[in-house]
Amino acid sequence: MKTRSVFFYISFALVTVSGFAQNYEAKVDSLMNLMTLQEKIGQTVMYSGHWDQTGPIIGTDNDKYIREGHMGAMLNAMSVKGTRDLQKLAMEESRLGIPLLFGYDVIHGHRTIFPINLGLSASWDLKMIEESARIAAEEASAEGIHWKFAPMVDISREPRWGRISEGAGEDVYLGSEIAKAYVKGFQGEDLSQPNTILACAKHYVAYGAPQAGRDYHTVNMGEGELRNVYLPPFKATVDAGVETFMSAFNELNGIPTSGNQFTLRDILRGEWGFEGFVVSDYTSINEMIPHGFAKDSIDAARLGINAGVDMDMMGHVYRLHLEQLVEEEKVSEAYINDACRRILLAKFKLGLFDDPYRYINKERENTTKYKPEFLQKARELAAASSVLLQNKQQALPLSKNTKSIAFIGPLVKDEYDIIGNWAAKGDRNGKAVSVFEGISEYLKPEQILYAKGCDILDTGDSEFAEAISVSKKADAIVLVMGEGHHMSGEAASRTSLKIPGVQPELIAKIREANPNKKITLVLMNGRPLNLSSEVALVDAILEVWFPGTMGGAGTADVLFGAYNPSGKLTVTFPRNVGQVPIYYNMKNTGRPIPESNPKEDYKSNYIDVPNTPLFYFGHGLSYTSFEYSDLELSSESIGFSETLTASVNVTNSGNYDGYEVVQLYIHDKVASVTRPVKELKGFQKIFLKKGETKDVVFTISAADLKFYNHKMIYGVEPGVFEIAITPSSDFKFENTFTLKD
Ligand code: BGC
Repeated sequence: MKTRSVFFYISFALVTVSGFAQNYEAKVDSLMNLMTLQEKIGQTVMYSGHWDQTGPIIGTDNDKYIREGHMGAMLNAMSVKGTRDLQKLAMEESRLGIPLLFGYDVIHGHRTIFPINLGLSASWDLKMIEESARIAAEEASAEGIHWKFAPMVDISREPRWGRISEGAGEDVYLGSEIAKAYVKGFQGEDLSQPNTILACAKHYVAYGAPQAGRDYHTVNMGEGELRNVYLPPFKATVDAGVETFMSAFNELNGIPTSGNQFTLRDILRGEWGFEGFVVSDYTSINEMIPHGFAKDSIDAARLGINAGVDMDMMGHVYRLHLEQLVEEEKVSEAYINDACRRILLAKFKLGLFDDPYRYINKERENTTKYKPEFLQKARELAAASSVLLQNKQQALPLSKNTKSIAFIGPLVKDEYDIIGNWAAKGDRNGKAVSVFEGISEYLKPEQILYAKGCDILDTGDSEFAEAISVSKKADAIVLVMGEGHHMSGEAASRTSLKIPGVQPELIAKIREANPNKKITLVLMNGRPLNLSSEVALVDAILEVWFPGTMGGAGTADVLFGAYNPSGKLTVTFPRNVGQVPIYYNMKNTGRPIPESNPKEDYKSNYIDVPNTPLFYFGHGLSYTSFEYSDLELSSESIGFSETLTASVNVTNSGNYDGYEVVQLYIHDKVASVTRPVKELKGFQKIFLKKGETKDVVFTISAADLKFYNHKMIYGVEPGVFEIAITPSSDFKFENTFTLKD
């Protein structure tokens, strides 16, 4: 189309005037001067390509919309060939030739799949998490992708919710640090480089607290909890320079989050100064109709754009209705201009106006995936993310000299579920290293015995007899069990937290047949499980989540002690589903259980199980042991502008070198609104050789003690604070300091 060149002359003229140290705003303005209202609306429209289904299937006529300039972005479109054809259509057959933006769900890796995000968080290794995001960006950008719908920074204390697997767990501080690491990894230092891509903080907001753990369900939450717990990781991504946000599916206190002016305009734009663009979740604007908030799709479009959602993912409502809404003066044209401007700005930052095909390079596509160094990092992360929950009788590590070890369970040979949910372009057909392959690096074939025993969801015991007979022949037993990958992720809530199917029965039978043998349970799953029965039946439990492409290799490294486990839980494991929600930084209540008399009546307790979880937040064992001693505070009190250092000696007193995650907690004893009984305020992952001692030092300032009070003022109040430096959240405070007036 000839008119396109008009824009290019303007664009190139500006490039010449301002050089490449860009004044993107001026370029966007000059481009927008050429655009019709419907073309501007076109930039706010995103449809799906045909590669993947990540929501309800909705008919779209993509080629037509691209030619008409009525579509600015696509999801689920990729590969050099696929994106080149689409980009060519936009560049050569639409009036203005504005490049398309290609987005995709690159959640925990693109081709090289890392452990699921909940697993990655258990590494407490910000550098490695950032590296995993960098690798994902390298691989995805080499296949034409400009933008990933990650990180998911939803705090969640709800193990029934399948999407807890996609987040960084239950804690605000840790979740915020991890959120920043992902953004840095995806976006890199310079967005104009073709191996960096836009990150997207999702799902804004409070999506991780659905009623009854059911996906997409209602969220009712006081503003204090929203601001103190659920918003901070999102704010952290803004501070880290995240370019885009995704509004969520859920309603929040009666207002759907994709039509919520308070969270989108007042907080995100007003308070935090976010300048990037906001995309809806998949049809979340339309879903305001069944929510009972919008009358029809016209009304939904009005509510979405007026609330500040700049781009409509799959909804058809912006494309069909915004022009009419502007004509009827129900939507200000300024909102459309703002949305279009933000989206164009992102395209400029990515360099798409310099070269719309810059992410489309066959050679890069062919050479970037599954690089040996990517796979090596995936292996290291699989090991670093695994959490040794229990290790009775030092069942682990296994010895390579054991005469025979029986590997039993539906996930021993699995190469399919092991890469977990939302595994982007991860290969489920043979690329992933199974546990069986992993252990084969350590054992000779004659040392390995195997039986499947059952499938993940089996209801019958037809394969039990063989598994029991195999178990009896071995000197040690390793069970590899858990959930299927489809049992967590979107629309995968569960009401039971038990290991599914007949697997628990098989565990019991194997123990019965082998009363004196050491049994290890390796678990793959996407959520905290109820392991109350299993802790008594097996000796060791190694939680490996869904550990990714190199999962079996990393798991074997831990099983045989080549890697000393260092992962710690970032989410509490309950004793049973009735304790949910249960998390380490709850409030105390007016009737806490007295330590001196745990059975005292009329206290905040259950009559059937203790209040304590099965495994605490921050818990994770090592093959060595660490001793903490000599906590020292630099001062007993500090003023508002002073800092305090807290230090502790950590000694590796066992027989293996290893990493330890040293955790700093505080407790604000009395405040104008009640504060949690414990709050993580810092951590350090340190490496100690056996016998080595390190002095671990934290610095605390008044700013670290801030919170939102009942008037929603963010500040700090003087008073007494308890403080501890510990290996997990299971401890009692013994020290205090005072923040002076
Ligand atoms: C999910 C998002 C995802 C989007 C696009 C939705 O169903 O909630 O997390 O980014 O689909 O695939």
